[in-house]
Amino acid sequence: MARSVILGTGAAAPSKILTNQDLERIVDTSDEWICTRTGVKQRHIAEDGETTSSLATEASLQALEMAGVSPEDVDMIVVGTTSPDMYMPNTGALVQKNIGAHKAFAFDVFAACSGFVYALSVADKFAKDKLNSKILVIGAELLSTITDWQDRNTCVLFGDAAGAVLLSGEPKGDRGILSTHLRSDGSLWELLHIPGGGCVYPPSAEMAEKRDYCIRMQGNEVFKHAVRSLTDIAKEALKANHFSPDDVDWFIPHQANIRIMKQVAERLEIPIERVYVNIDRYGNTSSASIPVALNEANRLGRIKRGDVVLLDAFGGGFTWGAVIIRW
Ligand code: UT7
Repeated sequence: MARSVILGTGAAAPSKILTNQDLERIVDTSDEWICTRTGVKQRHIAEDGETTSSLATEASLQALEMAGVSPEDVDMIVVGTTSPDMYMPNTGALVQKNIGAHKAFAFDVFAACSGFVYALSVADKFAKDKLNSKILVIGAELLSTITDWQDRNTCVLFGDAAGAVLLSGEPKGDRGILSTHLRSDGSLWELLHIPGGGCVYPPSAEMAEKRDYCIRMQGNEVFKHAVRSLTDIAKEALKANHFSPDDVDWFIPHQANIRIMKQVAERLEIPIERVYVNIDRYGNTSSASIPVALNEANRLGRIKRGDVVLLDAFGGGFTWGAVIIRW
């Protein structure tokens, strides 16, 4: 049976770090509140010249290097992002130019914090369709550019980063992506959205003044939906593969809030020791959070060949999804 196998991983984040103490000087908040309510201690924030595509490029080059694959052999590039460099061209096309992947076609997937899991699911289908194809799957965000730095409800949460995997369509074997599971519920879009910048509310001086190009979230409502949806889709993925929670070596959920991760892990009966957590150092990096965590776990040797890895994402839309990989 054909399978998509991850041959390499990479990640990048700006060198500038914004701590909770720094935020205490910007909005009415405290390190204690942010740590206990979210688990975030610091986040990386882009400086001049750093863009979503530049971080995506760095992460991609690392993934290619680990895989031992040349950019010229890449067939497809797909980027999950909600903070592209521009609305046109797509971020994937800029990565294609930057790395010199001349024969690749490129596009973005717009699914908020589920962007990477959505992109991986799409790439999985392409990879199995064209065996031996090489696909870069990226999650990349500069959330700092769409964060309202006067809104303490959201600005303490987000950070900038990118993560990438190099996927290969292998003719057979028991390694690789075992299944992907995606869901959406557009009826709840208002709970987590960016009001301005699209055709409904185009850019204007008024929009800029109200900072309506920034993320708006009803946090505690989103929290409840996130816990329920992440749990349900992960259970569906486990059931589809006849796995029990004990079969999962690493659970890598979207890093939105440590309390969400703990509640989901508890409901899934996966011990916290098998949950990969790095929200303390990155904050919520939306599409980038899962590939950044996956890359860290891989490079630290935490994930071993043959391990079962469960990815689980939830974001605006609402969108959510899970992927099971045998490493
Ligand atoms: O990535 C996509 C999916 N996103 C998520 O899954 C995020 C889901 N939501 C969350 O993670 C949490 O809801 C938040 C971290 C956003 C907020 O935590 P919460 O425990 O739900 O807090 P809350 O919004 O219910 O607010 C509790 C209190 C309020 O004060 P009062 O009304 O009780 O006096 C807020 O005004 O905490 C206050 N508060 C803050 N206090 C200090 C809100 N933000 C802050 C802050 N610092 N930064």
